[in-house]
Amino acid sequence: MLPTHNRQVQLASRPVGIPQADHFSIVSVPLPQLQPGELLVRNEFLSIDPAMRGWVNAVANYSEPVAIGAPMRSFACGTVVASRHPGYAEGDVVMGMLGWQEYAITDGRPIRRKVREADLPRSLSLGILGINGVTAYFALTAVGRPRPGDTVVVSTAAGAVGSAVGQIAKIAGCSTVGIAGGARKRQLCRDEFGYDFAVDYKAAGFEDALSAATPAGVDVYHDNTAGSISDAVIRRINRGARIVVCGTASVSSWDDWPSGPRVERHLLNKAARMQGFLIWDYEHRYEEAVARLADWVRDGRLRYREEILDGIEQAPGSIARLYRGENDGKLLVRLNDSR
Ligand SMILES: NC(=O)c1ccc[n+]([C@@H]2O[C@H](COP(=O)([O-])OP(=O)(O)OC[C@H]3O[C@@H](n4cnc5c(N)ncnc54)[C@H](OP(=O)(O)O)[C@@H]3O)[C@@H](O)[C@H]2O)c1
Repeated sequence: MLPTHNRQVQLASRPVGIPQADHFSIVSVPLPQLQPGELLVRNEFLSIDPAMRGWVNAVANYSEPVAIGAPMRSFACGTVVASRHPGYAEGDVVMGMLGWQEYAITDGRPIRRKVREADLPRSLSLGILGINGVTAYFALTAVGRPRPGDTVVVSTAAGAVGSAVGQIAKIAGCSTVGIAGGARKRQLCRDEFGYDFAVDYKAAGFEDALSAATPAGVDVYHDNTAGSISDAVIRRINRGARIVVCGTASVSSWDDWPSGPRVERHLLNKAARMQGFLIWDYEHRYEEAVARLADWVRDGRLRYREEILDGIEQAPGSIARLYRGENDGKLLVRLNDSR
């Protein structure tokens, strides 16, 4: 029996800065009949990503803002429960831009891939084998270009992207330094994600601790935060350093961009390179990264953490939770008692 209704998390009002729970509403809408060329996916896990705040702000980042009243744009994974599309069959597991909703009817274009790693939990297709892992892989290998012996520093080091960057840098033979907020996350960086050193940016003496952790300077900086964390790291770059600008988590609103020291003299004096990274530029190489990451997960060289919230009611407040740093690894919402 196919469902007749679909619960969606719709954007109710446009936030300035970090979206909060009351910017969304949960609405039940009738599910239309499948048309030729369409498939119906029952979503099992919804992804929560820092980039989602950019998708709802009035000023678009690299994509059009989500319209008021539309289901929240997001990655999700689920199972095809009906198909009139030649490329998909009932039972296929898929991930893609399927939105914060229980069911997605699609013509297939928002689907990023079929999830074929049947031996691994399918939630991984949104985290370590999804945008987070693939971002970590290409941001580090294609832009950071680490060499064995390099010192690689990572901000939001205990998070979904950061924890993977640190471990991939270790696999590449580098010395790794993670920056995270709070003593517990610092501990996680050392004990779980194998960083050689971890520094708590919220603790007094952050800059001294960073200096002590990077006695040979910094060759690669994977920057997920911008702001004062990055100011401190950039002061320690070596000649020829590579700075990968991957995220700006410390900046709560584009209208309130913090002022700080300028980077030009550091880049000039050290002949260093600072480059933005966008995962969308690597879509054509997505499967290559997933295959590598999955092998590392299987042989235990790549560890991950997931924080799973149960029920669609948890979705509206989840982006704010991420920006409060309350997530332990990849933040997900689970629907339908999925495993
Ligand atoms: N460019 C791309 O294509 C791309 C793709 C995916 C992700 N990203 C970026 O990668 C970064 C990490 O994403 P993720 O999904 O792995 O999220 P995450 O790191 O698991 O979660 C976000 C983390 O940001 C940190 N944070 C929040 N507010 C902060 C602040 N004011 N100052 C410093 N840190 C703050 C928190 O960690 P602490 O508790 O340690 O502060 C929080 O746990 C994000 O900036 C995201 O936008 C970029």
